[in-house]
Amino acid sequence: MNVELLDLHPAPADLEQLVREGMTAIPRQLPAWLLYDSEGSRLFAAICEQPEYSLTRTEIALLSQQAEAISASLGSGVLVEFGIGNARKVSPLLKALNSDLFVGLDISRTALRDALEGLGREHPQSTMLGICCDHSQLTDLPHHPLLDGQRRIGFFPGSSLGNFSGDKAVALLQRFRQLLKGGPLLLGLDQPRTPTLLEAAYNDAAGVSAAFAQNLLKRLNRELQGDIDVSRFEYRVRWQSSQSRIEMALVSTCSQTITLAGQRWHFDADEAWITEHSVKYSPTAAEELALRAGWRIQQRWHDENDHVSLHLLLPAN
Ligand code: AVJ
Repeated sequence: MNVELLDLHPAPADLEQLVREGMTAIPRQLPAWLLYDSEGSRLFAAICEQPEYSLTRTEIALLSQQAEAISASLGSGVLVEFGIGNARKVSPLLKALNSDLFVGLDISRTALRDALEGLGREHPQSTMLGICCDHSQLTDLPHHPLLDGQRRIGFFPGSSLGNFSGDKAVALLQRFRQLLKGGPLLLGLDQPRTPTLLEAAYNDAAGVSAAFAQNLLKRLNRELQGDIDVSRFEYRVRWQSSQSRIEMALVSTCSQTITLAGQRWHFDADEAWITEHSVKYSPTAAEELALRAGWRIQQRWHDENDHVSLHLLLPAN
């Protein structure tokens, strides 16, 4: 088998601490990555299949149509994907780059192994190296003979950056620049577009997006012996144009008190618990963000409607 795993044993999240921080914030909000327990990951995959949520389909199509052009611009090197999840996107690039090594980072050991085994079967000629870690805590990739002296090419698709607001997005891009050691980064983002279309994408008719948000409450109930009545929180989505972002929230339908890990938290009627933000970057906003993090945008590929784009970033100096 052409799969190798390096486990850096990322510290398990201190959920109680995160809840204390999130519940004392104004408005209340927990880190978005907590949405992805195994049921959350399954629901997110189902969101990607909804007719209203076109981002994933569009990006996959763009990547496969432009793989040759993109790989020619990237040059040769080892592809390093940050947060590979179910690794649905990297295949066309791996094929076009034709390199003998792929490096995938993810915090979930099982997701990482499953994803790499799938990729390994599709690309039997290359080694799949998984690094189980929290990439926001890494200052360098761990030492590995296959990585020695290799040029690194970063890959961060899926508008994942959209979950991070301002300074955090900048910090993450700076971190990637450090980890890539002079190599380029291919960054997938989606643009602002008609608010009604965006709101529908995050509030599909089948209710999968709502279930995805509500699953966070179920997770907290399960892991922190909570008593949240999920039916007393209603899913709400709105486009916030001044911040160029979608806000996803669970809104308390009444005045109520919930208990998590023995701690009680009061919610007023209509009080919002933000589950997620999804920032949309115009080409100019993407440029500004890149510059703040020490990158410059060298090239940009987009779909025919210009909803989704892939940016080739190079270190600014
Ligand atoms: C995984 C952050 C790209 O913001 O579009 C989709 C997450 N949440 N529907 C997005 C998400 C609800 C998604 N990202």
